[in-house]
Amino acid sequence: MRLPILLCLLLRHTVARGFNGIPGDYCSKRAVPCCLHRDDDCTAPILGDHLCYCDVFCDRGPDGGNDCCPDFLATCKGVDSGNTQEFSLSGRECSADGVRYTEGETTKNNCETCTCSGGVWSCDRKTCLIQDHLLHEIEHGRYTWGGSNYSFFWGRTLEEGIKYRLGTLFPEQSVQHMNEIVIKPRELPDYFDAREKWPGLIHGVKDQGDCASSWALSTTDTSQDRLAIITDGRLNESLSSQQLLSCNQHRQKGCEGGYLDRAWWYIRKIGVVSDSCYPYESGSTREPGICMLPKTLFQANLPVSCPNENESKGKVYKMTPPYRVSPREEDIMTEIISNGPVQATFVVHEDFFMYKHGVYQHTHIAADKGDSFTGQGYHSVRVLGWGTDHSTGRPVKYWLCANSWGQNWGENGFFRILRGENHCEIESFVLGAWGKGAKRRRRFKLRKLRRRFKKRLF
Ligand SMILES: *[C@@H]1O[C@H](CO)[C@@H](O)[C@H](O)[C@H]1NC(C)=O
Ligand SMILES: *[C@@H]1O[C@H](CO)[C@@H](O)[C@H](O)[C@H]1NC(C)=O
Ligand SMILES: *[C@@H]1O[C@H](CO)[C@@H](O)[C@H](O)[C@H]1NC(C)=O
Repeated sequence: MRLPILLCLLLRHTVARGFNGIPGDYCSKRAVPCCLHRDDDCTAPILGDHLCYCDVFCDRGPDGGNDCCPDFLATCKGVDSGNTQEFSLSGRECSADGVRYTEGETTKNNCETCTCSGGVWSCDRKTCLIQDHLLHEIEHGRYTWGGSNYSFFWGRTLEEGIKYRLGTLFPEQSVQHMNEIVIKPRELPDYFDAREKWPGLIHGVKDQGDCASSWALSTTDTSQDRLAIITDGRLNESLSSQQLLSCNQHRQKGCEGGYLDRAWWYIRKIGVVSDSCYPYESGSTREPGICMLPKTLFQANLPVSCPNENESKGKVYKMTPPYRVSPREEDIMTEIISNGPVQATFVVHEDFFMYKHGVYQHTHIAADKGDSFTGQGYHSVRVLGWGTDHSTGRPVKYWLCANSWGQNWGENGFFRILRGENHCEIESFVLGAWGKGAKRRRRFKLRKLRRRFKKRLF
């Protein structure tokens, strides 16, 4: 935790003053050379175990004292070191990145807004979606995954990330009424990727944009893969998440999240058209929008008129009732290898947004810095397979999942997460359903489904 400003001031000035006589690379050697606002972690080692500072707060002009690193002005302000004596801010001015600001002026520092007040930057202390210190630690520590400074997350707050990028309402009550399927054990390989077993039938990654619609996207995406698999590719369409989002509004929260059981109920009772018939728009509007395909338009599985003016009639696709897969690792694996990708709900923590590659495991980096740097929410994704990663020495088992944050996030839109330990509850809420539409196989499957169901109430 950070110390109160006044105490810090005192402490910081007992450390050392005027390092200017010791030339060298200090700030310039840091991963993030300079920090715009006051940041007591923004330091570099100097003279044994002393620290010098590279945040703007170190430079308070000639009267305020100075504990900046010797290369602070040159590195952080572009001021020629020969001129350091001449550089001073007059009274109540502030500076950032070599620009001077007068009293009351504001500037953005990542997601924070900082105001120049009495010659010192005062920032609104928001926690950002991209946390520099976390990225830095992931990069330099021993972790099973690596992070990235995503430009589409830069400048946004963690609160916004949780509000707009997730979107599954607490699943317990919604999933607890579902029947759990009994899985017959079978021999399982060490590695499995649904895209290799069913080439051309597993669809790509979508982008939910700024709308907490993972409840809708993961439901349509799991459905479309399973429809394609069960019909051997005869029904191979990307399904409309927009229809689910806009038309399944009863007791759902649209772009503020939804319940999975209600989404599955809709796709079973009413059905959805393809993405091209009813394209996704909520990512930019942040609203679920009005329903362009009200229930009354659906009759006896006849095609409906597409909201997209370029398409004429759209076929309606339906699914069977969803079922719950037990949280046992082998049961989930058996379900995926037998019937295709499953839908899983898990807890997303602050560090997950920055994931780029490797096997994700939640870290305590943010929590160690303070509770205000943490945040979490439920999110649903498609699980496509599994494997074991050996790239960091110790073998790490993982699930292979498709996220809905576009292809520029993670491993081309996909991610891997620790398997077998119910990490972030990834194994707690796993669902599947069968597609309707396969003629012969469908009846067979349905009979089998009935046999395999075991009524179980929680
Ligand atoms: C992250 O990217 C933004 C621009 O997208 C840049 O201004 C910032 O300095 C970068 N931060 C780090 C730690 O690389
Ligand atoms: C299914 O559709 C996808 C994308 O629309 C396409 O790339 C793929 O080749 C199709 N698969 C088959 C078997 O037709
Ligand atoms: C319909 O087609 C036109 C011309 O090809 C295109 O500009 C427009 O974006 C299309 N509309 C939709 C909703 O796809």
